[in-house]
Amino acid sequence: SKEPVRVLVTGAAGQIGYALVPMIARGVMLGADQPVILHLLDIPPAAEALNGVKMELVDAAFPLLKGVIATTDVVEACSGVNIAVMVGGFPRKEGMERKDVMSKNVSIYKAQASALEKHAAANCKVLVVANPANTNALILKEFAPSIPEKNITCLTRLDHNRALGQISERLNVQVSDVKNVIIWGNHSSTQYPDVNHATVRTPAGEKPVRELVADDAWLNGEFITTVQQRGAAIIKARKLSSALSAASSACDHIRDWVLGTPEGTWVSMGVYSDGSYNVPAGLIYSFPVTSRNGEWSIVQGLAIDEFSRKKLDLTAEELSEEKALAYSCLS
Ligand code: NAI
Repeated sequence: SKEPVRVLVTGAAGQIGYALVPMIARGVMLGADQPVILHLLDIPPAAEALNGVKMELVDAAFPLLKGVIATTDVVEACSGVNIAVMVGGFPRKEGMERKDVMSKNVSIYKAQASALEKHAAANCKVLVVANPANTNALILKEFAPSIPEKNITCLTRLDHNRALGQISERLNVQVSDVKNVIIWGNHSSTQYPDVNHATVRTPAGEKPVRELVADDAWLNGEFITTVQQRGAAIIKARKLSSALSAASSACDHIRDWVLGTPEGTWVSMGVYSDGSYNVPAGLIYSFPVTSRNGEWSIVQGLAIDEFSRKKLDLTAEELSEEKALAYSCLS
């Protein structure tokens, strides 16, 4: 039988944490034959709630779950972890300036980067979920220089899955028959959901989404804004932000990264830009990626039309500004 994999979840007493940890313990993230040990981190005010989550994990008697460490000590939490899902962060509260929120998160991600660098297992894979996700991941990368940059990513898979969901609803087809949408850029309202290479499996073979939808005004307008603003629409409806879909998408992100993407399919991941598609190098930017043997690579050679180019550049600009703001918090 396989050795357990140690999975860290930070912010584990929060909403996403509550949805995510049972999925991991059931094998949704790493497979139904992969035992896991959960490392749960939160801050002292949430310690009691965190212990309650641990109690429920024991009560659920998950066969794959070989241990739970619930702690407010970042070193204990990071020790020996193979996968780190960073959900903990400082939320923007009413009346707060962007710079103040950034500054709080920069200091959290700087400290957690050092703990991971010193105490995580070799080749630990990191997924940052907490917002601003791309920039938190960039700070983590900067302050964990011995972790390979390929191992530090952020979550845009929820946006990717939202785009698949919108196409499936519009065409009244199974979501599993839709593939190869792309989320470019920031996990924010400047992200660009791109369907120019997306296809649908039909009884008559694979067809381009553009051909089947046959409504460029919708695809270039309402579709894009719906995906960009879906997070806000969920908050309006639930009075709470997306949690089950965020947790499920975090599992999809790690599963496809570790176990590989299906042949002919790509997914969206926020990764360290190497300058592909003329996106400035040195940003954490969402690209289409495939994965094999635990290593992702950016899908190359896709045609980018003029409409798309502008949108790729706009979201890159926002990320460059966020990066500058984050660095200004460091000095
Ligand atoms: P939440 O507020 O319910 O939970 C956050 C948890 O993090 C709390 O328990 C809090 O105590 C903890 N925390 C705060 N500082 C911490 C620290 N320094 N170390 C460890 N834990 C810490 O929030 P929720 O709804 O679970 O969302 C978590 C984050 O995920 C937010 O930043 C949210 O904006 C982001 N998010 C990102 C999405 C994405 O697609 N990338 C989608 C949805 C949410």
